[in-house]
Formats: sequence, structure tokens, C-alpha cells
Amino acid sequence: MPAEQKHFDVLVLGSGVAGLSAAVRLAGPTGGGLSVCIVTKGELSQSATSWAQGGVAAVLGGDEDSTDLHLADTLAAGAGLCDVDAVRVLVDEGPLCVQELIALGAEFDRETSGHLSLAREGGHSKARVVHAGGAATGYEVERALVDAIRASASAIYEHVFALDLLVEKNSCVGVRVLDQGEVLELRADHTILATGGAGQVFAVTTNPSEATGDGLAMAMRAKVAVADVEFMQFHPTALHHPAMPRPLLSEALRGHGAILRDQKGEQFVDELAPRDVVSRAMAARMAEEGSDHLWLDATGLEQFSRRFPTLAASLKAIELDPAVSWIPIAPAAHHLAGGVMTDLDGATSLEGLSAAGEVACSGVHGANRLASNSLLEGMVFGARVADRILHGGNHAEPTGVMVSLLQPEEAEIPATILRLPASTRPDTLQGDGQLDVAALRERLQRAMTHGAGVVRTETSLRQAQATVEQIDAELRAHGRTEAATVELCNLLTVARGLLMAAISRTESRGNHARAEYLSADPTWRRRQILEEDEA
Ligand code: SIN
Repeated sequence: MPAEQKHFDVLVLGSGVAGLSAAVRLAGPTGGGLSVCIVTKGELSQSATSWAQGGVAAVLGGDEDSTDLHLADTLAAGAGLCDVDAVRVLVDEGPLCVQELIALGAEFDRETSGHLSLAREGGHSKARVVHAGGAATGYEVERALVDAIRASASAIYEHVFALDLLVEKNSCVGVRVLDQGEVLELRADHTILATGGAGQVFAVTTNPSEATGDGLAMAMRAKVAVADVEFMQFHPTALHHPAMPRPLLSEALRGHGAILRDQKGEQFVDELAPRDVVSRAMAARMAEEGSDHLWLDATGLEQFSRRFPTLAASLKAIELDPAVSWIPIAPAAHHLAGGVMTDLDGATSLEGLSAAGEVACSGVHGANRLASNSLLEGMVFGARVADRILHGGNHAEPTGVMVSLLQPEEAEIPATILRLPASTRPDTLQGDGQLDVAALRERLQRAMTHGAGVVRTETSLRQAQATVEQIDAELRAHGRTEAATVELCNLLTVARGLLMAAISRTESRGNHARAEYLSADPTWRRRQILEEDEA
């Protein structure tokens, strides 16, 4: 029986900052009456955005900072792989996006003078991070956007699981979804992927359990170009604790003076270096000491509970008082710098499909994201996707990282195309369902943390690859099209791409550290673009 169909002008997959920033612009008074449908596998406000702590880096009028310095800091953190035009867009348009968010009702922390309170974080040469509720910035951003979109969206599909993109005549025409066990086709002139990241590929992550790379995997299966997926960022200071996802201890703590200490109590790294530098130094010190964690010393911070109430509450829950005790910490998978390649207006290599936020590779992060640039990316590029759609644009132009794909001879950063064997499609899963999906997911996560963590080797990556292929074979033999099984399928798709790119990149750069190649190799200042073969 053919699947039931519904049609909208715009489908937004995902409900974090990028998707909702686009949706609010398209569905609101400036949106020209477009019908906008939001599809999310959880509840509307249940996105990784709500978990973001530190804040939004933006040079707002009245501070001493300059956007050129923000640009320079972002490029330095990105270790040679940022697209300069994309970063220019990010730093120039970010401040207006923050002002628009304030106009929508978002409340950021302020000094007693009434000015926005600005924090400093690793890799930033100035204090320029606006924040809310201390370290509950994402929660406030999400709250403001959810309130706005509830008033204007045509339809909101919660607890609906996207299976695959619908592609007809080389154009994306919507998505096939699973709604309470029934397959439904949601069709639209424009589909926006804003499904967030893939931290759940790893066993130790700060990402919520929903961060399973669904959008990235759907794009890969639809043969859409993706790039830079070897660059998974490991946040240096996740609480070392059995809880999963790992509670994050915001970088703003180090910005306020918290110190990293080894098991002897010695300081061993510049706490305000970019995250890749700090995480690698931590991995090296843990290997030397044979320990599985280090310490964050926040005992010198004044008014910890007043400045960071949510962090104080989670530490209290485990009976840890940061005023007197050091906090056990270790790096955890946190943010994927790469993703679905987009031009400067969020268009992908597939007509009708846009991407924004963590699922995208807009070029703003290069090989390592600067702290507090991710909510910013979602706001800026979500808004640009909306503006392009409102102006009738439906396909990618050779701008930003898309130059590497569409006009390679003009590209400042050259690209290598890696062909990836076709991955398993959810609609081909017609097995007996005799599969312990949770156990297989854990096995995959452990293999990836062991094989593709902060420091990788060819051997460790190939071991992870072998495990991924074994799990994929079990999935194909026994899997059925059910949400948890499809999540596993998506995790495997992302893991295969990440491993192929990480094996191929024989250097250490940004978030990708190879023990056999200790430094960056100038001949590797290139992007790796993955394209899947036909099945
Ligand atoms: C943090 O507060 O350290 C996390 C924010 C980010 O990932 O930029």
C-alpha cells in the first residue's frame, strides 16, 4: 500500500537552534505565508541545543572587541581548514542574530550596569561570550525559539522518526518518516536538515542520547557530499563519572580561572588554549600517569554557585563541593566539526536540501571548533537558509566550502574525494528482529572510543572498522525498520565515514590526532569529501 502523503512548503528536520532559527524566519510575519512543518524524534524542546552551556560568542556593540579578532581566533582554532568567507559571515552576522534572539525574548546574563555580561573561553583573545543562567545558555536560547515557533509553525510533528530523504529526479522532495509504527511521506519544496551532531557514536560523550547522526546518515545514503567528518571534537572537561551522557563542566570555568591539574597536582597545559590542544595534552598526561582522569581545580573561583548555579547543582547531586574539592574530569566526544557540505546560504549538493548547524559542514569550524561558536553557527546559518528560500534559491552556488566541490580549480583549500561503499538502508531492514540493539550500540560506542578517540593510530582505527562491519552484518541479517534499530544504522553509517576519513588523514591536525604522525603536514591542508557509491 502506498505511504500516506502530506505536503508543506518547507520541512525542518530537527528542533535545535539552527532548525528553529530558520523556521521562525520562514513561518513568522516575514515568511510570506509559507507552510512550515517541524519534524523531531523527541519533544520540540528536546534538542542538544538545550544542553549547550558556555554561551554564544559574538562581538556586540559597546564591548572593546573587534569582529576581526573573533575571525582571527576562529581561524587559529580551526588549524588551517576553516573557510575564511564562511567565518567572515559568522562573525559579521552573529551579533545581529543575538540581538534578534533578545528581541524574541531570550534573556542573557547582565552586569548590574545592565550591559550584557561577557565571559572568556579557550582560544578567545577577549571576553566575548554572552551567556544565560550562568552555564544554561542553550536552555534559554531553545526556550525563546520554541515559544516563538509554537505561535507560527503550520505543523509540529513530535516523536516522529525520519527514515530517509525522498529523492526524485535528482532533487530532494521531502522525507519518509515513521509515525507510531506507520510509514508516512512528508513532502516539501524545501527540506532543511538541522538534526544536530553524532556524539553518540562514542561511549564517552557529552551529547544526549538523541545525538545519533540521523541527518548526516540520511544525507550520506542520499549521496549528498559530506566533508571533514574525521574532526570530532573532544571537550576537555567532562565530569569523570559513570553517568552517560557525561555532565559537562563548561569551558567558562577555565575562563574564570579554574586550573587543570594532573595526579601529582601539577598544572600541565595553558587552560585557555583551544580545545584540541588541551584535550591532546590531557590524553598525553593520562597516558604518562596511567590514569583515566585528571582534575579541574575550581577552588579559587569566587561565587561559584552564584555564577554557575546549574553546575553547582549537578556537583551537589554527587556530593562534590567545588569550593573545597578538585573535580575529576576527562575528555569526552562533544561536537562534530564536519558534516553535510553547504554553500554560504546553507544549500547542499542535492537540490531542494539545505543543512544548518552541527549536521552541516559550513566551513566555520575547520579542523577544530572555537568554543561557543556552535550556537552562533546555528543562528547565523539557519537564518541564511531561510533568507535564501524566501528569495527562491534552491540549489548550491560555488561559495564557502562548496567551491571545493563545484569549482575545485578555484578552491583555496583543495579537496580529495573518498568513495565510501554504500551503507545499509533502513528500508532494506526486513529481518526477524532478533537483535539486541542496545548491546550492539554499546559495542559500537566502545569500539569507537577505543579506536577513534582523542589519539588514534591506523591499527586502532582498523580495529574499530572491523567491529563496525561485524555489527553492520548483524543488523542486515536481523534488523527491522524500528526507531532504535534505525538509530543504530545511522550510527554505523557515520562511524564508517569517520573511520575512512581518519585512516586516510596521515597527520595530526585540530581534532584529529594520529600517534604515528605527530604534527600537521602542510600537504594535508585539504578537505576530505565523502561520497557514497550506489548500492
Ligand atoms: C562549554 O560551555 O564548554 C561548551 C560550549 C561549547 O561547546 O562551545
